[in-house]
Amino acid sequence: MQSIHHPLFAAVYELLSRWGGEWEKALRAEVVGAAWGRVLEVGAGTGLNFACYDPSRVEFVEAVEPDPAMLRYARRRREEAAVPVRLHQARVEELPFADESFDSAVATLVFCSVEEPARGFAELRRLLKPTGSLLLLEHVRAASPCMAQLQDLLTPLARRCAGNCHWNRPTLTTLAGAGLRIVSRREVGGGLLPLVAVRAIRE
Ligand SMILES: C[S@@+](CC[C@H](N)C(=O)[O-])C[C@H]1O[C@@H](n2cnc3c(N)ncnc32)[C@H](O)[C@@H]1O
Repeated sequence: MQSIHHPLFAAVYELLSRWGGEWEKALRAEVVGAAWGRVLEVGAGTGLNFACYDPSRVEFVEAVEPDPAMLRYARRRREEAAVPVRLHQARVEELPFADESFDSAVATLVFCSVEEPARGFAELRRLLKPTGSLLLLEHVRAASPCMAQLQDLLTPLARRCAGNCHWNRPTLTTLAGAGLRIVSRREVGGGLLPLVAVRAIRE
């Protein structure tokens, strides 16, 4: 596996996030605010979700992020959290935790960039307790064939400029193939980057 280190992308992501819109904050609050108990967050990036964990529901968060450039910002952002957040440098495909350790797993805007998404979802399935939930916010492949074709065309550019981001991934199909079942799904917008907020459980 190639190492993940995108300092320019991390700096731009951090800068842009400071102007993050209210809709984005509300979406993060909706998805991340549903986490409870012992929480695993993967691809934590610059730590934008940390402030969204509800201290009346969450015991602690183990947050993993493979890119050292992202981790630098995430370390600072831990101070905004109202719950204990421990940071680890790791990829979702290979996580340093015991089976069935977590009540909730959180990933926002991550699986578009993961090198081996099927392996990543299998790891999350392994780490969730039988009663646990996976909470996802991801942009996915467009339903319209025309839009999906445009996504295919633009993906090489997006991968290059945005830390391996694939605009054209059928992420929810990959999730289902890893033995996870979607129990709620909300479409948030469409066009070139259709977003979905999902809760999934183990099959
Ligand atoms: C677009 S950023 C999103 C960051 C954050 N989750 C958010 O919502 O702002 C994508 C993140 O996924 C991380 N990532 C890429 N490949 C990964 C992998 N194999 N395992 C875990 N995280 C990965 C990147 O380093 C980056 O921080």
